Amino acid sequence: MIKETLEKIKNQAIEELGEIGSVEALESFRVKYLGKKGSLTSVLKSMGSLSPEERPIVGQRANEVRAAIEEKLEETRASLAQKFENMKLASETIDVTMPGREVSLGKKHPLTTVLDDLKDIFIGMGYSIAEGPDVELDYYNFEALNLPPDHPARDTQDTFYINDNVLLRTQTSPVQIRYMEQHKPPIRIIAPGRVFRSDSVDATHSPVFHQIEGLVVDKGITMANLKGTLETFARKLYGEDTRLRFRPHHFPFTEPSAEVDISCFNCGGKGCSVCKGEGWIEILGCGMVHPKVLKICGIDPDEYSGFAFGIGLERVALFRYGIDDMRLFFENDLRFLNQF
Ligand code: DAH
Repeated sequence: MIKETLEKIKNQAIEELGEIGSVEALESFRVKYLGKKGSLTSVLKSMGSLSPEERPIVGQRANEVRAAIEEKLEETRASLAQKFENMKLASETIDVTMPGREVSLGKKHPLTTVLDDLKDIFIGMGYSIAEGPDVELDYYNFEALNLPPDHPARDTQDTFYINDNVLLRTQTSPVQIRYMEQHKPPIRIIAPGRVFRSDSVDATHSPVFHQIEGLVVDKGITMANLKGTLETFARKLYGEDTRLRFRPHHFPFTEPSAEVDISCFNCGGKGCSVCKGEGWIEILGCGMVHPKVLKICGIDPDEYSGFAFGIGLERVALFRYGIDDMRLFFENDLRFLNQF
């Protein structure tokens, strides 16, 4: 009777093992048959009821059954492990022929490229870079630059007022004042930055644009130094053949003042669509620093003199790349920006 039970257990166990598909199921199988309360164990426990002759025979058989089940169990365990290992390897396969994911590198905005070039040119001439705040006091933006409250030139530079005394700067010229308040001559700086005016957007205007201010103050600085500096700058930027034209102008913070044109780099001065038939292109304003401005900053105009200039970055970039609409710089259209 016990012998038959043993055979039944063995056959059933072997059959069940064949169907096991997971390590967890294998463990419950082991508990079910070989555990402390397992079916094979309980058969062994009931051997006490056998006669002394039968006991060793059944005992031996029981051990054989146990060994057979254990062997098959280990086999199953091994093949399961192998199966999972293979699945894992398959799922982790690297297809080295697969195309890589493209790393898209950003690039510099054309205005940044032009600004970097300008900085390089001036740093090469011994200038350092200064900065001032975008949100500026009326005093620095206008008053200290010899534009008192009712000065008519203020009308051309209307801006956004935070209150009566605080505004978005309309020009980078206030950096001249801030710098001269803090530094004694010799001074040789450029100050690039964002400026603001309440202009409507069109092809040549934007309420936000950029300027690069220049300031040199030292003993014996003359207009000849200004001309030489600007000529060097323009030739480096637009080519060795570039000629400069100084037209008298008025800026309250310089005396004398001038606007500077360069000979058209496209037609060489003959007149074309880039220069609108003029042969010349206006690129900046400049002049000799007004003695009043030096005095306001605590610099003695009898001892020192200086020149200053203000370049419009967008204009320089428009001409550099032959672009006819400034709005393109600010629209962030990648189809445009990717061309540079
Ligand atoms: N700040 C002037 C403007 O926005 C440009 C300028 C002209 C700057 C003459 C200067 C200068 O430093 O000397 O129109």
